Amino acid sequence: MSKYVIKGGKPLAGDVIINGAKNAALGIVAAAIMTDEPVTIENLPDVWDINVMLDAIRNMGAIVDRIDKHTVRIVGSMCRSIVEDENMRRMRGSYYLLGALLGKYKQAQVPLPGGCNIGSRPVEQHIKGFRQLGAKVEITYGGIFTAEATELKGSHIFFDIVSVGATINVMLAASLTPGMTILENVAKEPHIVDVANFLNSMGANIKGAGTDVIKIRGVEKLHGSTYAVIPDQIEAGTFMMAAAATKGDLLIKNVIPKHLEAITAKLTEIGAEVIENDDSVRVVATERLTSAQIKTFAYPGFPTDMQPQMTTLLALSNGTSTVTENIFDNRFKYVDELTRMGASIKVEGNIAIITGVSKLTGATICSPDLRAGAALVIAGLVAEGFSTVEQVEYIERGYEEFEVKLKSLGAQIEKVSDDEDEDRVARKMSFAG
Ligand code: EPZ
Repeated sequence: MSKYVIKGGKPLAGDVIINGAKNAALGIVAAAIMTDEPVTIENLPDVWDINVMLDAIRNMGAIVDRIDKHTVRIVGSMCRSIVEDENMRRMRGSYYLLGALLGKYKQAQVPLPGGCNIGSRPVEQHIKGFRQLGAKVEITYGGIFTAEATELKGSHIFFDIVSVGATINVMLAASLTPGMTILENVAKEPHIVDVANFLNSMGANIKGAGTDVIKIRGVEKLHGSTYAVIPDQIEAGTFMMAAAATKGDLLIKNVIPKHLEAITAKLTEIGAEVIENDDSVRVVATERLTSAQIKTFAYPGFPTDMQPQMTTLLALSNGTSTVTENIFDNRFKYVDELTRMGASIKVEGNIAIITGVSKLTGATICSPDLRAGAALVIAGLVAEGFSTVEQVEYIERGYEEFEVKLKSLGAQIEKVSDDEDEDRVARKMSFAG
C-alpha cells in the first residue's frame, strides 16, 4: 500500500481539469460489449476501477485497444458470457457485466461485486429486475451471480429501493429484451442518463432516463458508436470542497454545473463564493465558513459520495452542524480519524453532530474507503503540521492523479510507498518552505 505525506496550511489556487465520471464509465464499458461492432469511448478516467473492468472484458475475449490515456476502442464480438477475473470481487461496478451479458447472450456468470465498505451492499433489486424480465437468477456457491433465460420479455418493474446499480443493470439487460420494459422508482443520477445516452447512441430505444420512469423498447441488436463520458461530478465536488476548506481560489474545469447544484447550494449557504460558467465553476473562500444541516439523498439531493468531504469542511466551520446519511448504513467510519486530528464530531446512528473547531492538527490517518480517503486528504491540507494518509489505493480507485492535481494547485503533498521513510519526505518538504 502507499501513503500521502501532506504539509497543511497552503490555500489551493489555480485551475484543475476534471476527468470522466467513474460511475458512468463503469456502466458504459459494460454496455460496450453488447454490440459486436467497434465502440470508441472517450474521456474515460484512468483509474483502478475502470482499468480492472477493461482487463475483465479483455479476459472474456473482447479486443480492448487503448488509443490514448483517456480513449479506448472495444470490440466485444468474441466476448464469452463468463467473467472469471477475481478482481471483479474488489469493485462494485463489475455486476454491470451481468446485465450486459444477460441482454446479449441470455446467460451470464459474474462474481458477486465488492465495493467500498460503507455498509451493506445487497443486490436483491438487481435480482428482482432480471427475474421480472424472465431470467432465472441464482447466487451459486462461491459467490457467483448467475442469470440465464430461454427468452426475455419486457416487463413493468417497480423498484422497492432507489438504486443506481439496479437501475443501470436492468436498463442494460432490457435494452436487448423484446417488448416494452417500464422501470419505476429509479435512480436519476447523471450517470444513469449518461449510460442511457450511450446505449441510445448504439441504437437502443430508451426514454425518460433522469426522470422517475424509464421506458425501454428492446431492439434486436446494438451497433458501434463513439461516445464521450460525462465529467465526474463527485471529483468536481471534491475539489470544490478542497478549495473552500483551504480558503483558496480554484477554477474547476470540464464540469456540468447543473450536476453540481446541490453541492453549490450548500457551499454558498455556508459562505463560500461559487461562480458558475458554461463548463467550469470557480470556488473562492476567504472567511471562516458557517454551519449547516446536511441530509444525503438520491440525485438531485445532496450526494452521499460528497458526505465525508462536506463533514470535513463543517468540522472547521463556525457553529454546530449535522450530517444525516440516508443512503448507506455505515458511512461515518472516517470520523474517528478526523477526531484524532482534533475534530469534534459525535456520531449517533446515521447522524453526525459536528461542533466546528478553529483548527485541526496533523496526524497519521487511514483511508477506510474511496470518498472518505479524499476527505481525509482535505483534512490534511488544512491541518497544522504534517499528516500521513495511509491506504491511498482506495482513493486511486476513483480519483485520477489526485496528489498530482493537488500539487499543481499549491498543495504540499507527496506520495510515498509504505516502506519509505515519511520523516525524510517531511523534512524535504519543510526545506521546501
Ligand atoms: C453507486 O453504488 C455508486 N457506485 C456509489 O458510489 C454511490 O455511493 C451509490 O451508487 C449511491 O449514489 C457505483 O456507481 C459503482 P445503490 P450502488 O444501489 O449502485 C441499497 C463511489 O464512491 N440497495 O444506489 O451500489 C444500498 O444498500 C461509490 O463512487 C439495496 O438495498 O448504490 C444502499 O443503501 C461509493 N438493494 C442504497 O440502496 C439493492 O439491490 C443505494 O445503493 C441495491 C441497493
